[in-house]
Amino acid sequence: MTEIDGKLAVVTGAASGIGRGTAIALAKRGARLAITDLDRAGLAETAARIEALGAKVTTYLVDVADRDAVYAFAQEIETSHGGADIVVNNAGVAQIARVDELTYDDFEWVMNIDFWGMVYGSKAFLPQLQAKGGGHIVNVSSIFGLIAVPTQAAYNSAKFAIRGFTEALRHEMKGTDIQISCVHPGGIKTNIVRNARFLQSTQATVREDAASGFDKIARTTPERAGETIADGIARNKPRILIGFDAKLVDWLQRLMPVSYGKIMFRRESSVLTGQPESKQQGA
Ligand SMILES: NC(=O)c1ccc[n+]([C@@H]2O[C@H](COP(=O)([O-])OP(=O)(O)OC[C@H]3O[C@@H](n4cnc5c(N)ncnc54)[C@H](O)[C@@H]3O)[C@@H](O)[C@H]2O)c1
Repeated sequence: MTEIDGKLAVVTGAASGIGRGTAIALAKRGARLAITDLDRAGLAETAARIEALGAKVTTYLVDVADRDAVYAFAQEIETSHGGADIVVNNAGVAQIARVDELTYDDFEWVMNIDFWGMVYGSKAFLPQLQAKGGGHIVNVSSIFGLIAVPTQAAYNSAKFAIRGFTEALRHEMKGTDIQISCVHPGGIKTNIVRNARFLQSTQATVREDAASGFDKIARTTPERAGETIADGIARNKPRILIGFDAKLVDWLQRLMPVSYGKIMFRRESSVLTGQPESKQQGA
């Protein structure tokens, strides 16, 4: 069991969605929160909800893609709070384009936030956990870290890499009191698609169709996702699957490790690209 009550939990990307849900769920279990994001107003809203629960919270504007900023933030947490006990590397963005259309600029944008942001957060805080002799690092991957999907090459690359990094770190921490969890959410009703980058040529209606299509298939609320992550932390679960869809994808990937696409893609990619299924290629 990881003790949450009274511990200092850092959550990145906490101004919205899963990060907000996780910060609130940890606060309900007695954690003190240090929450970060780029979205000042959203962060203030999360902080207000945490304070309404009677829990302590501090907010920090940190770009997780900025290595120096993440290390400066970790130093601040060390100085002001005596170091972190629980670190949830959650901040993330999505990008929607086929590989032949994907620009390097967009690819690097996703990798810098989703992958490198997670690496910086893990490496900057690990020494604090090691000095304390325990703690928990939680890295948020996706079901797209278990299966790959057309139009998601950049996001898939980041999320598979998060899983690889996190599982390697978990093996390295074996025999210590530092727990490592990798989270694979299914569809969670958040702003992820609404905030995603599409091709510059993409019409606004395609973006809106994709976002509202995603809202229809994303069945889990961010609050429930946060509760599942907090439960997973408390129970030291190395792999935290969120939602029935995530369990289904995990099972399907084991059953059909190469040919899962025959069953999976058409619906998923049409939602993400906003195109009717008949226009989808590949799969
Ligand atoms: N929503 C889903 O269905 C789903 C599924 C699988 C995985 N995920 C993952 O969950 C995590 C949270 O996403 P969400 O769905 O809550 O989306 P969201 O868009 O609601 O929240 C993401 C938060 O990250 C913040 N953020 C973006 N770039 C940042 C940066 N450079 N530095 C700091 N903060 C930054 C945003 O401001 C936002 O508040 C992401 O890593 C995402 O890939 C989401």
